[in-house]
Amino acid sequence: MNKQVVILCEKLETSLALAVEKCPHDKLFILTDEHTHRLCMPAMRKVSYLNNAIEIAIGAGDVHKTLESLAAVWQVLSTQGATRHSLLINLGGGMITDLGGFAAATFKRGIAYINIPTTLLSMVDASVGGKTGINFNGLKNEVGVFAPAASVLIETEFLRSLNDENFFSGYAEMLKHGLISNTAHWAELLRFDTLHIDYEELKQLVGHSVQIKEEIVAQDPFEHGIRKALNLGHTAGHAIESLALAEDRPLLHGYAVAWGIVCELYLSHIKTGFPKEKMRQTIQFIKENYGTFAFDCKQYDRLYEFMQHDKKNSAGVINFTLLKDIGDIRINQTADKETIFEMFDFYRECMGS
Ligand code: GLY
Repeated sequence: MNKQVVILCEKLETSLALAVEKCPHDKLFILTDEHTHRLCMPAMRKVSYLNNAIEIAIGAGDVHKTLESLAAVWQVLSTQGATRHSLLINLGGGMITDLGGFAAATFKRGIAYINIPTTLLSMVDASVGGKTGINFNGLKNEVGVFAPAASVLIETEFLRSLNDENFFSGYAEMLKHGLISNTAHWAELLRFDTLHIDYEELKQLVGHSVQIKEEIVAQDPFEHGIRKALNLGHTAGHAIESLALAEDRPLLHGYAVAWGIVCELYLSHIKTGFPKEKMRQTIQFIKENYGTFAFDCKQYDRLYEFMQHDKKNSAGVINFTLLKDIGDIRINQTADKETIFEMFDFYRECMGS
């Protein structure tokens, strides 16, 4: 997979000019959702070389990460005369960068695209690393391809208008990057004042977080090995997210990841010896900032079933990424049903759910 260029922008306009210049094109398209159309496009229109760009706007949120929205994007590209030499800019959160990346990767067998993530989650995770796709058949990211953006332009000024829930949703992925990298970064993430955000400090943390992800993706772009480190918290997290969806208790992805981290640090502690004090401090941070997702023991079987259908498994064996310590990653771990139920008991006990 080609390496994508990830830029922490000083000025979006300047970085975008350079990124567009590096992608010679005949026509320029910009994909937005109803939020970025309203909040970000007016400023983008003022940039002279974007004047003639054709905007494609779709519905916002994960419910629109569908085949229908994808077809709507293909439709505009096709009817507006996009060729293999056209360029697509994806302006939005993870839904837009995933779906837009997939549209670009498949239209005429692939056109170039640039991601401009506007949420914390898409800056530190979704827009970086070349995973694209849509939800299908009730399953998240069921259909997609690996296809790197030509450039990913991270403009942290967008974060100033993010609501608390979207801030914390992205921050959970940063916390995950802290846990899989080193104690110093993990500790600075726990120390960060989430109630009074210092945006300059946040920008540094975002830069560091993206670098951690980039280094892992560069080693294993197609997730055969070490990229699985990025799945920490996601096996239990996806089960919680699926249960929430099935019970119509909507929640943002990062919240499920945070609660998944609580579960999987427990497994890390009992199976690979993750230090108890670091587990306690991380869980304390999550409890204070994310609250809890309540479930009782009657829902354990359902959660377990969701885990069994996780696409990270192979041959029906539930796959976890665990830690022996911060930065000491153990991929391809498993646990039996009894241990997984114990993990749920631990979660409920310490999170008071
Ligand atoms: N979101 C995890 C990855 O990109 O591999």
